[in-house]
Amino acid sequence: MKFFIDTANIEEIKKAAEWGLLDGVTTNPSLVAREGGDFIELLKEIVQIVDGPISAEVVATDYEGMLKEARELVKIHENIVVKVPLIKEGLRAVKTLTEEGIKTNVTLCFTAAQALLAAKAGATYISPFVGRLDDISHDGLDLIEQIVTIYENYGFTTQVLVASVRSPLHLIESAMMGADVATIPFSVLEKLFKHPLTDSGLETFLNDWKKISE
Ligand code: E4P
Repeated sequence: MKFFIDTANIEEIKKAAEWGLLDGVTTNPSLVAREGGDFIELLKEIVQIVDGPISAEVVATDYEGMLKEARELVKIHENIVVKVPLIKEGLRAVKTLTEEGIKTNVTLCFTAAQALLAAKAGATYISPFVGRLDDISHDGLDLIEQIVTIYENYGFTTQVLVASVRSPLHLIESAMMGADVATIPFSVLEKLFKHPLTDSGLETFLNDWKKISE
């Protein structure tokens, strides 16, 4: 399973990259707005830190506008993946971009039917939002299971990129279902390392070692 970090914060990206576990980065307009500054400059910095797919979202909502933005974004670096919203015009743009050899990440997916459409359009990644479904009392992980099953049934090559991850459990359950990628906020990435028995066990080992080395 590939791990992407879901942030536009350079310090978080640098720290996660140092751990050696990072395969890519996803950003969205809200995450970029939180950091401020110029979007293109930010992307130029991110591609220098992580050698893997970097999702950058278009903000146009019409077909021509999305294509124009996408073609500019991919000029930044070969690792840029164009993030496109799951709307009719968006999927039309995905089809054209795929024909041009441009990688896409279809975002804001909340149903299996939407995921099926994105795969048929040729999306490189589909981003189902698990946490936001949980927020409205739907089981977000059920959606991951449905999409993985449907893609396997028909041999679609679109990769399932679990988004809106809120907890280590989201990640583990998605991994059990065979999702290809998870995009994980920094705070959740940190939690993945933690277990109280690891900490207390290490403390005991080190204290015992001190007894024989003193
Ligand atoms: C996906 O690529 C999105 O950026 C992200 O996962 C959304 O997460 P949120 O629901 O926590 O905003």
